[in-house]
Amino acid sequence: MRHYSSVSSVTMIGLNAYRIAVEVDVDKKAVIHDIDIVGLGDTVVKESKKRVKSALKNSGFPFPRGKITINLAPSDIKKEGSYLDLPMAVGILKASDIVQKDISKFLFFGELGLDGTVRKVRGVLPALLKLSEEKEKPTVILPASNESEASILKNIDAYTVKNLSELVAFLNGNIKKNPIAYKEPELKHIVAEDFSDIKGQEFAKRAAEVAAAGAHNLLLKGSPGCGKTMLARRIPGILPRMSLEEAIETTKIYSVASLLDGKGLVIERPFRSPHHTASTTAIIGGGSEAKPGEISLAHNGVLFLDELPEFRRDVLEALRQPLEDGDVTISRARLTVTYPARFMLVAAQNPCPCGWYGDRSHECSCSWNDIKRYNKKISGPIEDRIDIFVDMPRLEFSEYSEKRKSESSKNIRERVERARERQYARMKVLGKYFNSQLNHREIEELISLDSTGAKLLESAVEKLRLTGRSVDKVLKVSLTIADLEGSEKVLPRHIAEAIQYRKKEVNL
Ligand SMILES: Nc1ncnc2c1ncn2[C@@H]1O[C@H](COP(=O)(O)OP(=O)(O)O)[C@@H](O)[C@H]1O
Ligand SMILES: [Mg+2]
Repeated sequence: MRHYSSVSSVTMIGLNAYRIAVEVDVDKKAVIHDIDIVGLGDTVVKESKKRVKSALKNSGFPFPRGKITINLAPSDIKKEGSYLDLPMAVGILKASDIVQKDISKFLFFGELGLDGTVRKVRGVLPALLKLSEEKEKPTVILPASNESEASILKNIDAYTVKNLSELVAFLNGNIKKNPIAYKEPELKHIVAEDFSDIKGQEFAKRAAEVAAAGAHNLLLKGSPGCGKTMLARRIPGILPRMSLEEAIETTKIYSVASLLDGKGLVIERPFRSPHHTASTTAIIGGGSEAKPGEISLAHNGVLFLDELPEFRRDVLEALRQPLEDGDVTISRARLTVTYPARFMLVAAQNPCPCGWYGDRSHECSCSWNDIKRYNKKISGPIEDRIDIFVDMPRLEFSEYSEKRKSESSKNIRERVERARERQYARMKVLGKYFNSQLNHREIEELISLDSTGAKLLESAVEKLRLTGRSVDKVLKVSLTIADLEGSEKVLPRHIAEAIQYRKKEVNL
C-alpha cells in the first residue's frame, strides 16, 4: 500500500502568493517514529509538527506509526508562518487513508490548535486574490474566522471549517457545506470625525484642503491644545473615497499584518499615528516575519507623525526612500519583500520644546539654542518632502465659544474629488496622479505664469530667500489651488496663496 499524499496550498512572500505542494510520505517500516519537515520552512513551520501531532491525536485520529517525511515543494521558495499546519495534517490523514475521497482540487490554509481547532491565519486575502485570477475556479478550505476575506472575491469557492473532525467529515462527503457567499463590497465613506467640529483655524483648514487635493505632505506647527491632532484626524474624511482597487490594495496589507478584525474590505482611508518612541521596524516594516510597518498600513491614507522632532533620527532617515518612491523594500536573510507605502504625511510639532514659543498667553521657558536645535531636527530628509507648512495659533475665547458650525467634511471632500479628477486627466499620460508627484521638468512644462504671477514669485524668491526646491513646491501647490478653483491657468492669486504655505524661519 502506498503511504503517500500531496496536498495543495499557497505560501506568501510579502504580498505575493505562490502555489505550493505539501507532500507527505509515511514509512511504516522505519524503526524510529518521527516527523521530518524539509523544503525551506522557517522555524514556525518547523514547530508545525508538534501542533499537527497533538491536533490529530486530540481529534481522535490515529497517528501513523513510522517515519513521516513532509516535503514543501518547490524547495527554492521560502515558506513562512503557521498556515501550513492544516495542509500537513490533511496530508497525513490522506496518506493514512482516513481521508478517502480525492482532494486534489482543494487548497488548504489554517493553523491548528492542539485540540484540533482550525485557527485564523494572516495573509489570506492576497493568497485568495492570486488564486482567483487562475483560469479554473479554485476550491479552498479556510479557517472559519477568515470568512470575511473570502466573501469579497467572486471567482473562488471557499469553504470554512472550525476543526479537523469537521473537515474530515466534509472531505469524506459525510456532511454538506455551502461555499461562502460573495458579498458586493460597499464603498461608502464613513466619516466619524467631521471638519465642522473645528472652530476657527480657517487658515489651517484651508491648508488641509489644499494638501488633500494635491496629496501634498503637511506640517502643522502650534502650541499644545491648538487643535493639531484634531485637524489631522479629520483629513482622511476629506480625501476622495477609495476606489475598489485601492480598497483591495489596502486590505491585502491589513490581511498580511493580521489587522483585519473580521472586516471584509478596508473601505475607509487609513489613519495611522505611531508614537514617536516607535522603532524603525514598527514604522518601516520588517522583523522576523517581514511584516508591513506603519507606512504600509497608512498606504492610500494618512500617516500622522505627532511631535515630529521627537522621532528618532534613524526613523526619519528611513522614511526618505518610501516618501520618494511610494513603496518600501525590506530585506532579511534570503528574503526581500516590497510593500506599497503611498501615504499622505501629516506631521505636527510644537514651536519649541516647552511648547509655548510665540504663544500670546504663555511664557516660553526655552533658551534660544533649544528652540533652534528643536526646529533643526526635522530639517533635511523630511522637510524636503513637505510641501505645506502651517502655523496654528491658539483659539481666542470668542472663537472657541462660537456656536455656528463650520463647513462639513462632505462639502470639502467634493471639492477635493473634483480637483483630483482634473489632476488625473492632466497627468495620466505621465503615469502620475497628484500634483505633489511632479518633478522639476514636469512643473516647467505644465505651468506657465503670466507676467504678474512671475513677478510675484520673483519677489518672494528675493524676500523669503527661496531655494530652487522651494520654488518648485510653491508652483506645485499653486497648481493644486488652481485645480480646486477649476482654473485652467495658474493665476497670481494662486501663487500668492501658495507662498503663504512656505516654511517660516524661526527668527532668533
Ligand atoms: N479649533 C478647535 N475647535 C474646537 N475644539 C478645539 C479646537 N482646538 C482645540 N480644540 C479642543 O482641544 C482639544 C485638544 O486639541 P488637540 O487637537 O489635541 O491639540 P494639539 O494636538 O494641538 O495639542 C481637542 O480635543 C478639542 O476638544
Ligand atoms: Mg496633539
